Amino acid sequence: MPQIIDGKAISAQIKDELKERVAALKQEGISLCLAVIQVGNDPASSVYVGNKKKACAYIGIESLSYELEENTTQEELLNLIKELNKRQDINGILVQLPLPGHIDEDLVIRTIDPSKDVDGFHPQSVGTLCIGQKGFVSCTPAGIIQLLKRSGIEIAGKECVVIGRSNIVGKPMALLLLRENGTVTVAHSKTANLKEVAKRADILVVAVGKPKMITREYVKEGAVVIDVGIHRNENNKLCGDVDYDDVAPICSAITPVPGGVGPMTIAMLMNNCVESAALNR
Ligand code: GUN
Repeated sequence: MPQIIDGKAISAQIKDELKERVAALKQEGISLCLAVIQVGNDPASSVYVGNKKKACAYIGIESLSYELEENTTQEELLNLIKELNKRQDINGILVQLPLPGHIDEDLVIRTIDPSKDVDGFHPQSVGTLCIGQKGFVSCTPAGIIQLLKRSGIEIAGKECVVIGRSNIVGKPMALLLLRENGTVTVAHSKTANLKEVAKRADILVVAVGKPKMITREYVKEGAVVIDVGIHRNENNKLCGDVDYDDVAPICSAITPVPGGVGPMTIAMLMNNCVESAALNR
């Protein structure tokens, strides 16, 4: 049977390490504060925001919550961000996505000061990742690198295939695997012969957004399979983009859903907040 990569345990370990670092920073008189902005009350976003605030409390990071009405204007939101950019006591600014349709998401992201962009979504953060310079890295792909490293999985020299090319997961994932000296292919919905391309992978990262799409026909025997997807199936049970029961028996390591990639996103957000405070001191 494969190694089951335990994202819950690894994220708990990272959060405990961060808790110690935060305590040490506090000893130096440095306090940490994350501003979390939610516009409207999309139930899924409320759950995510609640979990982020809980993680802050656990680690010792203060969180400031801005719960804005659905009909908040773009100008009001931009003005709030500009005010938070100026505040010395705030290390990180997070605007929960998606935003209501009347607000330009790209403009909102570009308005966040890159030194407080703990989501790693600002074009400057993406650019520094691309050219290998210091900057915030998008949390889910950064978490996947931690899962691999902390599970003893070597990336250098491996064939890595990322299925999905979103700005938040697929593209930064490819750049991070490249930074770790993987040989990287990015596949997507228009890729010809996707099964054959995916089957080349020693490390297969799946972020397609389609429940159980990836069966063993896409997976080389002995591959490491990382599943970014999260869906509810017909029985209201959580499942990923990978057909776990079909794929697990033939791979060397796999992330479950839930309990794989999911918990890592918040752990890496917390890591970015701590880095932000440590860098700007
Ligand atoms: N919505 C879904 N995932 C994320 C995330 O990682 N950050 C933000 N800000 N919004 C999201």
